[in-house]
Amino acid sequence: MKSVIKNKNIVLGVSGGIAAYKSVELLRLFIKEEANVRVIMTKNALEFVGRLTFEALSRQPVSTDLFEKVGDASIRHIDWANEADAVIIAPATANIIGKIAGGIADDALSTFILAVTCPVIICPSMNTNMFETKAVRRNLDRLKSDGHFVIEPESGELACGITGPGRLPEPEDILDRLLSYLSPKDMKGKRILVTAGPTREIIDPVRFISNPSSGKMGFAVARAAEQRGGDVILITGPTDLPDPHNVTVVRVGTAREMALAVFEQMKNSEIIIKTAAVSDYRPKEQAGQKIKKEKDELVLLLEKTRDILKEVGRRKEDRILVGFAAETENLEQYAGIKLVEKNLDIVVGNLVGRSSSGFGTDTNKVTMFYKDGTKEVFPELQKDDVAHILLDRILKKV
Ligand SMILES: Cc1cc2nc3c(=O)[nH]c(=O)nc-3n(C[C@H](O)[C@H](O)[C@H](O)COP(=O)(O)O)c2cc1C
Repeated sequence: MKSVIKNKNIVLGVSGGIAAYKSVELLRLFIKEEANVRVIMTKNALEFVGRLTFEALSRQPVSTDLFEKVGDASIRHIDWANEADAVIIAPATANIIGKIAGGIADDALSTFILAVTCPVIICPSMNTNMFETKAVRRNLDRLKSDGHFVIEPESGELACGITGPGRLPEPEDILDRLLSYLSPKDMKGKRILVTAGPTREIIDPVRFISNPSSGKMGFAVARAAEQRGGDVILITGPTDLPDPHNVTVVRVGTAREMALAVFEQMKNSEIIIKTAAVSDYRPKEQAGQKIKKEKDELVLLLEKTRDILKEVGRRKEDRILVGFAAETENLEQYAGIKLVEKNLDIVVGNLVGRSSSGFGTDTNKVTMFYKDGTKEVFPELQKDDVAHILLDRILKKV
């Protein structure tokens, strides 16, 4: 599926805050999504980052001056405003927030904003004391009631040394929110349960059995479903990935904990998408103390864990159930067996053990097998795209 901002005209507004350097990365992410990006910088933003970087990355002239000569007779702030599909100001200073809230138009960016009719997303970033002033809070409330989207800053250590709210979220998170605002809300009202990541089966207090699943595929599915308006619960094994915005996240360790969480949460779900790589076996006994390396050989006796997918399949009633099959060979055969044995609606099969597909990568090459016996083979895609295609198929096919 193409990104919702592919070929769309996005205007990135950059004002004079310390986080202006992050907007370079944000621009790069927009370009990666194949958006057409124009950049408007305030004069003060130029004190923090050079226009050349933005011009080179966007391959478009950067606007900084309302009265600059643009070669033809066009009025840039009006033309760009008419053509824009979305505007994002990151970072937004206290100053530009105040100007937009008050309807002031005294430079290229603030004048452009007054002429815009598309969604405007504002990302405040400033020192905590500034952020907490009544004036800034009032202005942000005004922006929200005027219909603008505000992405609240994160808390953390700021450049000025203070710890508190005011930090610009990471560019990936801002992109995620932008996609969410612009996505069709075709999963609105649907309750979706997603599982992700590996599990860890304890051998002793310092060792476990696990697998290389990074959780990226499941997190991508949870993000995509949230972006499309779904109520999403994500149950995940140990991963380094941050909680997706607006998703209820349950973090578990072992297969047993995963099973309990899934059986509890499935009661309230209509769609269940299981991407987790749950251990099939766990040590039959767990040592209370660290096992010392005295013997040359150590035999671990393993026992089977519960087959969560199969049990969910048995109790699924009219829920839609999707499983993932990671195989190293005979994908079609194993995925087909899984589809029937576990009472699934869709199996997303992928061959793991390749550098661009499967565990830990950002891309995946999958085949979707449907319960009516048909299948679709996809080229190598970003996991975010695989997630959206899967949701499309869930809505259409089953
Ligand atoms: C080193 C430095 C860092 C600054 N960082 C911020 C900031 O993060 N957020 C903010 O609102 N203002 C910040 N300011 C103040 C703004 O640059 C100032 O209010 C300016 O008028 C903003 O202009 P603009 O909104 O037209 O870009 C900073 C100023 C300096 C000197």
